[in-house]
Amino acid sequence: MNILDNFINECDIALKTLSYKKNGTGRSYPVNQTNSNLSKEEKSLSAQLMRVNLAGEVAAQALYRGQAMVCKNADIKNHLVQAGEEETDHLIWCKKRLEELNGKPSILNPVWYAGSFAIGAVFGSFGEKTSLGFVEETEKQVVKHLEKHLSRVSKNDTDTIEILKTMRADEDMHAQEAIESGSESLSEPTKKMMSFTAKVMTSSSAYI
Ligand SMILES: [Fe+2]
Ligand SMILES: [Fe+2]
Repeated sequence: MNILDNFINECDIALKTLSYKKNGTGRSYPVNQTNSNLSKEEKSLSAQLMRVNLAGEVAAQALYRGQAMVCKNADIKNHLVQAGEEETDHLIWCKKRLEELNGKPSILNPVWYAGSFAIGAVFGSFGEKTSLGFVEETEKQVVKHLEKHLSRVSKNDTDTIEILKTMRADEDMHAQEAIESGSESLSEPTKKMMSFTAKVMTSSSAYI
């Protein structure tokens, strides 16, 4: 594909992601639909958590797309695209759960997509090992973030818990796959910067 084709393709994927029309791997929704009688407070807390997670999954899409776009190694590029498709499953599940809880997505999602795409492309341009190191660190931070959400969500909201646990297992697998593919650990200041950027995103998406 030439640069223009690439650009049009990425715009198409961005629009599909932001309008929640992108297809994932087709895995089924990991929820039994059993807990419909949550209190107003339980529902509102879960909606806030899922709104943040949806923003995170929008960012994950863009990070993987940005990294894949500049990746020169065909195998690693395929791996990044495949992991991105699994993130699309998460995006679909978070959106569905958010709707069930009567929540609304963050209006900042397009901003997170654009910013994350740029960050992904920058890290991707440093070479495959750094790019995989970035995946490893991002996914490890996401696992920690999901664990925090699992400790905050009401024990009665077993549907949300099931989604969070399934996502946590996937994110952990993404980190392991990056290590197995030859990731190079990032510097501590870079890790701190990533964590700070993620905090800005999660704290603002909870309200805006
Ligand atoms: Fe994810
Ligand atoms: Fe992931």
